[in-house]
Amino acid sequence: MPEAGLTQPELRCIGCNATFADPARDFRCIHCGDLLEVAYTVESSPVGAPALETLWRSRKMSLDPADQSGVWRFREMLPILPDARAAVTLREGNTPVYPMPRCARSAGVDHLLAKHQGMNPTGSFKDTGMTAALSVARLKGFEWVGCASTGNTSASMAAYAARAGMRALVLLPEGKIAWGKLAQSVDYGAHTVQLKTDFDGCVNVLIEVVRRYPLYLLNSMNPYRLEGQKTAAFELMEQLDWQVPDHLIVPGGNLANSSALGKGFVEMRSIGLIRTLPRISIIQAAGANPLVRCMKEFGGRRMEPVKAETRATAIRIGNPASWKKAVAVLRETGGACEQVSEEEIAAAKQEIGAEGIGCEPASAATLAGLKNLVRSGFVRRADSVVLLLTGHCLKDPEYTLDMRKPALAIDADPAAVIQLLEASGA
Ligand code: F0G
Repeated sequence: MPEAGLTQPELRCIGCNATFADPARDFRCIHCGDLLEVAYTVESSPVGAPALETLWRSRKMSLDPADQSGVWRFREMLPILPDARAAVTLREGNTPVYPMPRCARSAGVDHLLAKHQGMNPTGSFKDTGMTAALSVARLKGFEWVGCASTGNTSASMAAYAARAGMRALVLLPEGKIAWGKLAQSVDYGAHTVQLKTDFDGCVNVLIEVVRRYPLYLLNSMNPYRLEGQKTAAFELMEQLDWQVPDHLIVPGGNLANSSALGKGFVEMRSIGLIRTLPRISIIQAAGANPLVRCMKEFGGRRMEPVKAETRATAIRIGNPASWKKAVAVLRETGGACEQVSEEEIAAAKQEIGAEGIGCEPASAATLAGLKNLVRSGFVRRADSVVLLLTGHCLKDPEYTLDMRKPALAIDADPAAVIQLLEASGA
């Protein structure tokens, strides 16, 4: 087996570079208050990138749970556990990449693919980060884990905590999360509480709780979450036979996923798996657009929280924790940051559904954003583009039924059905 490409993980502050063996409970730097990241000494693999590619591919044939996981299969790039076989895994990752020919036509590009992270075990990309961070929580001996969530993090955390036999506290903004997600958290047995505030308010309450109670924080301030989430970049490159696309487009909420994917691409370039980076563009809902404003009004130097409002509840976030990491990714990859309207999200969701793929509203922001980026000339027709679909269509069926004409109810009569077919064919 080849040596790891990355060695000696340590937690390093993204602001002042201080390093920590044992971080504060809220994963903020005790000196300057910035976020931490898992930093490695990069060593090129003695057997080279091709051997890693072969090793990772070969693990797909293995019966070992760690090899079957689309996260731990890439464990040379996330050496955060002494033994990956101790990971809490639901066989996350291994999500499909689909060609999107009709969406490509309507967006005005020749090549459009979607990597569907909604095909993870709990229906969102959060599982790839949760397997990593929750495994660390178990290793550290915590009994309780907790998160504030717009719904997907909580569904994922609840499932992984249940697998690990740990107790889970979920704080949710009352009335502002999709029912599918709430039901998952309840089903997996988490202590699920709705607070009379928004997501940002839930985060503030949770931070106070972790300061006073031995509960391991699993929001994306936890840098181990991002280590798991970055593996989607490795998997995508494997699926594209290591040909880097021109553009990767992701929805932005708390801005951890864009940060994680950027980290993954930069690390792949460091060890020679790829030579260039895709432009990673981040799309926010117009009603929850703090990063768009941060880039346009303050050149990425300052972020003013906003009061967030959008029916894409997953990204209804006004004070994103990882904004500095996301700004760094936009700068390093040359990506754009755009906002899309509620109508544009709804129309894009319908088009993704019509490809037989489907996704939740936040994910559809990517296609809506692509259309704007083509219109502005940032994305050219011949560019290769990948959309990152983050959540499954069944997460928020209420949204779909509100936006679209519900199924017709007619008499139980074949003639009536045929009449309907004839009418729709006319
Ligand atoms: N898409 C979906 C489906 C999400 O659930 C989220 C975030 C995002 C996109 C945005 O990702 O926060 O990394 O920029 N959901 C969170 C949650 C915050 O609590 O489930 P991000």
